[in-house]
Amino acid sequence: MSQNNKQQSIWRKFASLFINFPEENEETAPVDSKNRPAQRKVAPPARAGKNSEPASETGHEPKDAFKRPEADFPFPGKKAKPQVSAKVAPEKTDNVSKIRDLDDDRKKEANDDDEEMLHTAKQEFKEEARELDQCFTSPAGLIHCPPIAEKPEYAPIVSFKNVTKIFNKGTPNEFCAIENVSFEIEDLPDVGEFIALVGPSGCGKSTVLNLIQGFQEVGPPTLGQILVRNRPVKGPGRDRGMIFQKYSSFPHLTVLENVKFGLELNREALGFSDKTMTNLAMEMIKKVGLAGHEDKYPYQLSGGQQQRVAIARTLVLKPRIIFMDEPFSALDEPTRIEMQQLITDLWHEVEATVFIITHSLAEALYLSDRIFMFTPSPGRLNKQIMIPPEAIGKLPGLSPLQVQESPKFKQALKELTDEFLKIGEIN
Ligand SMILES: Nc1ncnc2c1ncn2[C@@H]1O[C@H](COP(=O)(O)OP(=O)(O)OP(=O)(O)O)[C@@H](O)[C@H]1O
Ligand SMILES: [Mg+2]
Repeated sequence: MSQNNKQQSIWRKFASLFINFPEENEETAPVDSKNRPAQRKVAPPARAGKNSEPASETGHEPKDAFKRPEADFPFPGKKAKPQVSAKVAPEKTDNVSKIRDLDDDRKKEANDDDEEMLHTAKQEFKEEARELDQCFTSPAGLIHCPPIAEKPEYAPIVSFKNVTKIFNKGTPNEFCAIENVSFEIEDLPDVGEFIALVGPSGCGKSTVLNLIQGFQEVGPPTLGQILVRNRPVKGPGRDRGMIFQKYSSFPHLTVLENVKFGLELNREALGFSDKTMTNLAMEMIKKVGLAGHEDKYPYQLSGGQQQRVAIARTLVLKPRIIFMDEPFSALDEPTRIEMQQLITDLWHEVEATVFIITHSLAEALYLSDRIFMFTPSPGRLNKQIMIPPEAIGKLPGLSPLQVQESPKFKQALKELTDEFLKIGEIN
């Protein structure tokens, strides 16, 4: 056996402790993204993975999850609903015993080189186990983790790798908006994840979203790398859609025309007929609860209705990632609650990854699977908190108001508020 083959074989043996490889001569069945096992609702904390190089650099095909067939666009067939159970940190004891087994079984056959390799692998694994040690479940049932904790199970849809953004660099107005921010968001097939960004005003939340969007006004990161679906961000794309804080509909277009606008803009790429675009727009208008209002102009609508138009305009393009920058902050409380219900319902349908910025911790707690907490300027990702639905009493059939008035929710909110206040003291 050549040295190379031998090394591969050792690595394979080591990795097989954690991954079920097919037998050497077994055919690897192609993965059908539509027939994946049912997914959890809450993703595990992400860790900067070693397998996250862009496809072009690794020479491998991107994972199946990235290849959503165009035929599915813009509405994929019905898929598995997200599970409502949280994934917590994997059992650390398991890892420790695996390391021990590795020692006993493999050491005997390894020569000096192999031993060195095994030693490095074990060190890395122990490092990982140490990081997992830092996750804990609080009395309220929320899972607190450091910003980086675990290797993602699925290829990331968004990777932030040590990103720093300095505006006006080299001028007297130089300003560091975010510093050394790293996270990975898994591309959970057919589910997506709902991530809330919270932090004091000016800590760089919008900057983070604008960087992922590739907006020209923000430019590229000063340091670090941002990947969307394993490719560096070069500008905005149809796979990403934004719902702005202010109503962003065109005042001279009707509701229907506004919702059709994005489809028209991408007419060539999508290849839809006018009739198809109208049907898709009408379908979305109905989904956001505006049926019967399609011929009205934005000034003839209430604030909540205008924001529904903005949501429909974004969702009709079926983006894989949706950004919402304080989308409901201009709405009164009952309308805001209504919109939370709408977003929850629609999200299950669009199966996208959603980033929401909100100053309402209750809204972040209710809507998200995971909360990213940023420190005051320059924004650094201080911690992430997983929100298992059962920890906040988010049971199927309950309205946002019913959930938010439950003792479980209030206890979790108090805990989250305490964490937020602690963050305010950091600098
Ligand atoms: N294009 C820019 N040029 C210079 N400075 C900028 C630019 N964009 C943002 N900043 C600065 O970067 C910092 C972070 O801004 P950002 O809008 O990301 O904060 P934020 O967390 O979204 O705040 P808020 O909660 O108030 O919306 C602010 O101090 C802001 O003035
Ligand atoms: Mg902002």
